[in-house]
Amino acid sequence: MKLKTKDLLTLNELDRKEIEKITDDAIKLKKDFKAGISKPLLKNKTLAMIFQKPSTRTRVSFEVGMFQLGGYALSLSSDELQLARGETIEDTSKTLSRYVDIIMARVYSHKEVEILAKNSIVPVINGLSDSFHPCQILADLMTIKEKKKKLAGLKLAWIGDGNNVCNSMIYGCVKTGMDIAVATPKGYEPDSKVVRESKRVGYVEILHDPAKAVRDADVVATDTFVSIHHQTTDRALDFLPKFQVNPSLMKKAKHNAIFLHCLPAKRGQEVTSSVIDGSQSVVWDEAENRLHAQKSLMVALL
Ligand code: CP
Ligand code: NVA
Repeated sequence: MKLKTKDLLTLNELDRKEIEKITDDAIKLKKDFKAGISKPLLKNKTLAMIFQKPSTRTRVSFEVGMFQLGGYALSLSSDELQLARGETIEDTSKTLSRYVDIIMARVYSHKEVEILAKNSIVPVINGLSDSFHPCQILADLMTIKEKKKKLAGLKLAWIGDGNNVCNSMIYGCVKTGMDIAVATPKGYEPDSKVVRESKRVGYVEILHDPAKAVRDADVVATDTFVSIHHQTTDRALDFLPKFQVNPSLMKKAKHNAIFLHCLPAKRGQEVTSSVIDGSQSVVWDEAENRLHAQKSLMVALL
């Protein structure tokens, strides 16, 4: 299936069929990989990865993913590129896209990945901006599908910060027929444009009460209170203790609810160790699925 979009910047570029296809193909790629079947679907293709910010999962899963598909990945820290000496993002993008087949970038400002995409003749993937994290949500939807065998009709509760991961999660849920309830402290709600657009597509509830959000939830998700792009660390104080995912909050969701966290986690803040290490947590499968979801995404984009 040829995607309608050239780039993946928010997740809103994909329609329901495309998300279902990418996540279903990811599950197949994972099964094949575990069975020792390797498919060089991106033989001789090259990926440039630009990092303005640190990363463990995104960097390693893209690099290993490209290797598993027969391609090659270069990891470029923005400090080492001429970007550090003032070359524009426009010129960097025009140059890099003459060398490689696909670009992934982790940037501070979402505007920067938009400029990269606009000036690149090859697909650009957002590997996390201050506003969105679409690759994470493809892996999350894949994980939910593996565990619950479906997406439509499920309810996901997002607890904590209405941040970049939350914004892409809202798009991912409404597009696949999942209900989403978001509970944040006042002033930490997700992007109002994302919420407005998504309410036209599916069910989105913005709350300030975590107990109400998790009621009847099949999936409970959270993320750090302090993202990489935040300047201050004391914002965590505005979330605690009410917005922590702990055993007492998990008990208020469905008995078979699963727990998701994109990682890295700040144990004792947004989630307790008892939950993240507990029987409902699927965070290691979720992290593993970044690899297969992104392989599937790159194949679809190329
Ligand atoms: N979840 C995620 O994107 O992790 P990294 O910051 O380690 O890439
Ligand atoms: N919200 C977090 C996600 C990290 C993967 C951040 O932006 O730092």
